[in-house]
Amino acid sequence: MEKIDIVLVAAVAENGVIGRAGDMPWHLGSDFRRFRAITKGKPQIMGRKTFESIGKPLPGRTNIVVSRDPGLVIEGCLTATSLEDALALARKDAVEKGVDEICIQGGGEIYRQALALADRLRITHVETTLAGDTVFPEIDPALWEVGEEERLPAGEKDDYPTCYRVYERCR
Ligand SMILES: NC(=O)c1ccc[n+]([C@@H]2O[C@H](COP(=O)([O-])OP(=O)(O)OC[C@H]3O[C@@H](n4cnc5c(N)ncnc54)[C@H](OP(=O)(O)O)[C@@H]3O)[C@@H](O)[C@H]2O)c1
Repeated sequence: MEKIDIVLVAAVAENGVIGRAGDMPWHLGSDFRRFRAITKGKPQIMGRKTFESIGKPLPGRTNIVVSRDPGLVIEGCLTATSLEDALALARKDAVEKGVDEICIQGGGEIYRQALALADRLRITHVETTLAGDTVFPEIDPALWEVGEEERLPAGEKDDYPTCYRVYERCR
């Protein structure tokens, strides 16, 4: 059976900030296009707060929302009351669809719990430092090596330049 990798997908400022007041603290059109392309068809796991900030399921992929509320029902999404249960749903979906990655798409609480389980990180480093209330956990260089890197100047629909890096777990 083919291995299915757990992949954290995030956009992170230089000071680790990923969110402010329940939303993203930037608009990055180019990164959103990349996000759609790299996650298409793959199961997505997100925390209930991140789902609420997006407001609707992302089309073309199975959306799994994690909440401790067992009564939570969201049209167009699967729900799970633990990260482990969400991963089990995502694995089943990945096998059925024949894809080799499960995407963990935040937010801070979910990234913190999922980092130890991750095989790969797809990080857009946003080249700015700004205030926020939600951060990405530290990426330990002893555990992760950069396999791919692409720097993008800020385009018309981007607030900041970015550097996209794919980190592979080396230990
Ligand atoms: N820059 C980026 O790439 C990026 C990506 C995603 C999100 N964000 C930002 O991150 C912020 C949201 O992050 P956040 O840390 O506040 O919240 P979050 O991680 O999106 O969601 C937290 C919620 O998930 C549920 N949860 C967490 N761990 C669980 C577990 N082990 N079992 C069951 N349920 C669990 C709980 O829901 P209940 O309270 O319902 O029990 C918890 O309140 C927003 O500002 C958003 O815009 C940024």
